[in-house]
Amino acid sequence: MRVREFRDADEQPVVDLWRAAGLVRPWNDPHRDIARKKQVQRELFLVADDDGAVVGSAMAGYDGHRGWVYYVAVAEDRRGAGVGRLLMAEVEVRLLALGCPKVNVQVRSGNEPVAAFYDRLGYEPDGATGLGKRLIADG
Ligand SMILES: CC(C)(COP(=O)(O)OP(=O)(O)OC[C@H]1O[C@@H](n2cnc3c(N)ncnc32)[C@H](O)[C@@H]1OP(=O)(O)O)[C@@H](O)C(=O)NCCC(=O)NCCS
Repeated sequence: MRVREFRDADEQPVVDLWRAAGLVRPWNDPHRDIARKKQVQRELFLVADDDGAVVGSAMAGYDGHRGWVYYVAVAEDRRGAGVGRLLMAEVEVRLLALGCPKVNVQVRSGNEPVAAFYDRLGYEPDGATGLGKRLIADG
């Protein structure tokens, strides 16, 4: 198992992984999300590759102030084995190399159990409320 940068051929396996992990919402077209990410810091879009099979993903970015991580997912039958930790470690190494001082993660309402995962990795609630405004409707 190794963490590597996303390749074009990973697109469908990654989308399948996200769907199975419950990360795709009607207002997000995952293929468009990938197309956009390929245009901006694509080297921060990572997958966990086990002998050619995509078993995890993390999509990160640095905006000059904070790093952000999205689409953190591990295949259900591979969870609890450190794959998520490995992906996040590589994200942090890459963000730090860019001078990024802090990483933020947004956990959707209803997905609070995943907070335990982030807690184990040293992420703390920072008292901020996530707000969003859609600029391009994908759904
Ligand atoms: C969250 C997720 C990525 C974790 O991946 P994973 O490979 O199972 O995590 P790891 O095995 O690397 O676990 C790292 C640490 O977190 C802990 N952990 C992971 N999932 C946990 C859970 N559901 N509850 C409590 N602790 C958890 C592990 O015990 C481990 O702790 P340790 O290393 O200190 O012993 C995976 O469960 C997943 O894909 N969930 C569905 C998608 C999702 O909700 N993504 C997050 C979007 S914000």
